[in-house]
Amino acid sequence: METARVIPLLPVTALAHGEMTACRVDGEEVLVANVDGQYFALPNFCSHAGARLSTGRLKGYELSCPLHRAKFDIRSGAVIGGPAVEPLRRYPVVTEGGKLYLLGGLR
Ligand code: FES
Repeated sequence: METARVIPLLPVTALAHGEMTACRVDGEEVLVANVDGQYFALPNFCSHAGARLSTGRLKGYELSCPLHRAKFDIRSGAVIGGPAVEPLRRYPVVTEGGKLYLLGGLR
């Protein structure tokens, strides 16, 4: 039986409420965000034309792409405003001992 991977991302104190940042996991960038103490992890590149989402804007649960302003719900990765049509993947995360971990890897 395969054991699920648990990948450390950052200390929870590194990300204040309403902030987001990019972390590297297996050579890929992952966007990590804190909305009112809930943590979310998604790919850091927009599904429309690949802009780096960590340089966009986070307003509540709404993530805006910096390039053409597509909007995503950070809780689900769903598109809530074009021009993007493809949702973003969501990666499961958990906090333990003051650190945030990504569960299961990126595949
Ligand atoms: S690259 Fe994000 S909306 Fe175009």
